[in-house]
Amino acid sequence: MTRHETISLQPRLRGDYSATRADYTLDQHHATIPEADHATWRTLYARQSALLPAHAARAYRESLARLDVAQGVPDFEAASAQLRARTGFSLVAVPGLIPDGAFFEHLAARRFPVTVWIRRPEELDYIVEPDVFHDFFGHVPLLGEPAFADFMEAYGRLGQQADRIDALKPLARLYWFMVEFGLIREDGGLRAYGAGILSSSAETVWSTTSPEPRRLRFDITRVLRSDYDIHRIQPTYFVIEDYAELFACLHRVPALLEQARDAAPIPVGEADPADIPA
Ligand SMILES: [Fe+2]
Repeated sequence: MTRHETISLQPRLRGDYSATRADYTLDQHHATIPEADHATWRTLYARQSALLPAHAARAYRESLARLDVAQGVPDFEAASAQLRARTGFSLVAVPGLIPDGAFFEHLAARRFPVTVWIRRPEELDYIVEPDVFHDFFGHVPLLGEPAFADFMEAYGRLGQQADRIDALKPLARLYWFMVEFGLIREDGGLRAYGAGILSSSAETVWSTTSPEPRRLRFDITRVLRSDYDIHRIQPTYFVIEDYAELFACLHRVPALLEQARDAAPIPVGEADPADIPA
């Protein structure tokens, strides 16, 4: 899930926002997490990690292995200490989705907000709001990749800028397609690195192996103009060659955001004459 938009679509969020600080963070209280929640984590982790060798990007797999979190809901402080040493990122605990402004501020300071609660056992396959499994398993490993970490920090700063020019909607497409649903070419094959893909078993297999979805060469102009649907498996993915190209395109984004804000979007799943297949 992206944090943009979804928060305004959901007036009743599951998390407890009563104990948050002004920046929407709270304490994780790792020691008091119920055993049932750790068991849910282990079930999700075991199922999803079995798919990773064939479908997930190398940097993601290596970083996840280093984090060593197969045994239960991770301790955010321990993970933060490791990430901080590698890329300067740390994790902060939040009750769930937080407002865009607070989210951008955390990213710009190299802090990544991670939801504290985990889905119920009957929700293993799909959940509308991001939980700790999505946020941690999906997003945290790649925060240990230096070029991707640079991109995430810069995205936070861009968010603050986009808000001022009323261009959050096109900017959210960059997060959606490249942070949640991004693919990378490795050794001639397609691998997933996006958090929305890697926290879903069905989408992990579909995005990398099905002949059906449209897979396009990453093009920032195209991404900023592309509508998406949060409630279905994605019909369009963008493929990068390396993480550095995400950061490298950002100097063009402020001008492109204004264009994308004022242009007609490309409808979900549709082709555009300028498309370059990946
Ligand atoms: Fe997410």
